Amino acid sequence: MDLYEYQARDLFESYGVPVLAGIVADTPEEVKAAAEKLGGVVVVKAQVKTGGRGKAGGVKVAKTPDEAYEAAKAILGLDIKGHVVRRVMVAAGARIAKEFYFSVLLDRANRSYLSLCSVEGGMEIEQLAVEKPEALARIEVNPLTGIDKDKALEIAKAANFPEELLDAVSDVFVKLYEVYKGEDATLVEVNPLVLTEEGDVIALDGKVSLDDNASEVRHPQHEELADKATEDPLEAKAKESGLNYVKLDGQVGIIGNGAGLVMSTLDVVAYAGENHGGVKPANFLDIGGGASATVMAAGLDVILGDPQVKSVFVNVFGGITSCVAVAEGIVKALEILGDAATKPLVVRLDGNQVEEGRAILASANHPLVTLAATMDEGADKAAELANA
Ligand SMILES: Nc1ncnc2c1ncn2[C@@H]1O[C@H](COP(=O)(O)OP(=O)(O)OP(=O)(O)O)[C@@H](O)[C@H]1O
Ligand SMILES: [Mg+2]
Repeated sequence: MDLYEYQARDLFESYGVPVLAGIVADTPEEVKAAAEKLGGVVVVKAQVKTGGRGKAGGVKVAKTPDEAYEAAKAILGLDIKGHVVRRVMVAAGARIAKEFYFSVLLDRANRSYLSLCSVEGGMEIEQLAVEKPEALARIEVNPLTGIDKDKALEIAKAANFPEELLDAVSDVFVKLYEVYKGEDATLVEVNPLVLTEEGDVIALDGKVSLDDNASEVRHPQHEELADKATEDPLEAKAKESGLNYVKLDGQVGIIGNGAGLVMSTLDVVAYAGENHGGVKPANFLDIGGGASATVMAAGLDVILGDPQVKSVFVNVFGGITSCVAVAEGIVKALEILGDAATKPLVVRLDGNQVEEGRAILASANHPLVTLAATMDEGADKAAELANA
């Protein structure tokens, strides 16, 4: 889960990372009140989970509460790369002397942690990495020892921080690593980390990604950080049932077991759809191993709840779970759903005990179920039914 800047700011503050005062607001009136409360120059900042807000007009300096009001009017409702701004943060204005960059992240390729750091912050780091790679220090961080004061100094020196700033910035790096480790994050990024005219080092913008796998068990309080309002209701429902579901924009609901099989099913259905009015897959749904009746019912329930869905393609390869269990799962799931099952289902089974599985479905003879012998045939039939 990615956090909003204001959530990252609050998290930083709780770990003792130096940040500026910030107040979230959802209307120009609230922004004006926040600016009055903070006093002096403020910066009104769009809260969206995407980068490049400044360039898109989502970050504006305001010298007075009235200017803040006008800035909020311009920013609220703005579309930044497909993210509509519903909330802003009113931040105390900093007098910036210099902008730096710091991040620590999970380096999957090297099965390690990595810190990126530069004295040339402010600009987009992807751009810096391409145009001036020598200005971006890349320091591997051993997950067992993390970033202690010595490691932080190593990073600061590698990034060419001037001698007189080494102590102050390395202190901040240590604290940022405490956030990273303490919250089980996969990314903690500060761009810019600034030196103010007063000589303070402050995290002015924060980006934090949390590891959802850790959140569930180790950080139940992370649940409160989830943004229910922008979550897709079907995806939320699937999550409650522990399903791997992603809503897409098509008409053929998909259920399969194993991410690889489901991905190829999406391709095959999209391809078959070209012959049937251009229908497309409506979702990704991997019911994993097991494929019990309850999981099948939960999956079907989510998919049938999508008003765009016109047909469903169940594509299961029996491995450890035999096709008998899957077929029984489908029959029971249809019983559980009863009248809630309203759309035609094309089922393709293959693998372990396929004949027995098909026989179970054939003898159940459910009016909504059609059996397909192959994946291509099933995709074609499901696409045809979706286009009927
Ligand atoms: N509180 C502040 N006081 C003064 N200047 C600020 C403040 N916050 C941001 N700025 C200025 O605005 C610039 C852009 O702000 P910020 O980094 O938060 O957004 P961004 O980089 O455009 O967005 P993103 O990080 O999402 O790409 C900063 O580099 C800094 O110069
Ligand atoms: Mg930034």
